[in-house]
Amino acid sequence: MKLNNRNMNLYRKIGLFFYVLIYNFFEFVFFFTHYWWWKFILFRSFYYIRETSYSIFNRERHRLGNLDEDNFIYGETGVLTTKLILQEISPQKGELIYDLGCGRGTFLFAANFLFDLRGVGIELFTPYIVYGKKLKKKLKCAGIIFFNKNIIDVDLSDADIVYIAGTTYENRILEKIYEKFEGLKPSAVIISVHHQVPGEEFVLFHQGKYPFSWGTDNVYIYRKK
Ligand SMILES: C[S@@+](CC[C@H](N)C(=O)[O-])C[C@H]1O[C@@H](n2cnc3c(N)ncnc32)[C@H](O)[C@@H]1O
Repeated sequence: MKLNNRNMNLYRKIGLFFYVLIYNFFEFVFFFTHYWWWKFILFRSFYYIRETSYSIFNRERHRLGNLDEDNFIYGETGVLTTKLILQEISPQKGELIYDLGCGRGTFLFAANFLFDLRGVGIELFTPYIVYGKKLKKKLKCAGIIFFNKNIIDVDLSDADIVYIAGTTYENRILEKIYEKFEGLKPSAVIISVHHQVPGEEFVLFHQGKYPFSWGTDNVYIYRKK
């Protein structure tokens, strides 16, 4: 599936515009009474008003050299979708959740505010990490930490839950991540968007379709034996 905005035809762009509008309306209805939600939306807009995901990609491409654009197409898991997904696993307060390719950190901030989870965000693009740390300070959200590194270099041995919204990730990257999953502790939960996780030690216990900024996508939830 191609998510790249620049390559989309006009009808798909218009369709996606209305899809996102309707999604944001529902998110507003669910959360407008929550002070943290307003604070989060306002500060996030403030930090990203001058830098779009496309300008961040271009800046980072010059810094990091040859990047495969597909891996870095930006999309996001909204606050409402985070709630819908995480309620399927009824997480315990204080559990540690990793987001592999955390971008602006929306999934982690929502997981922290909604379910009191501690979060670790791994992201290769430095601007997301810089703004993520600023947002964390503004929102007084001590439970989240950000690391500016490649997701294939991460140690997941302390993770209770791993989230990977890797719809456009190349197979080469996914295969390395799946090797890392073997080091997860027993009973750890893996939430994978779009891709099924191979291996008999990962037991699929929920699957469903959820709304994302790029449209509806499949989510697979596993527990490690
Ligand atoms: C589709 S976005 C998902 C953002 C976030 N997880 C969410 O669901 O809202 C994928 C993110 O992964 C990052 N990414 C892609 N490949 C990566 C890699 N090898 N190491 C670290 N981050 C990576 C991209 O820069 C982008 O911010």
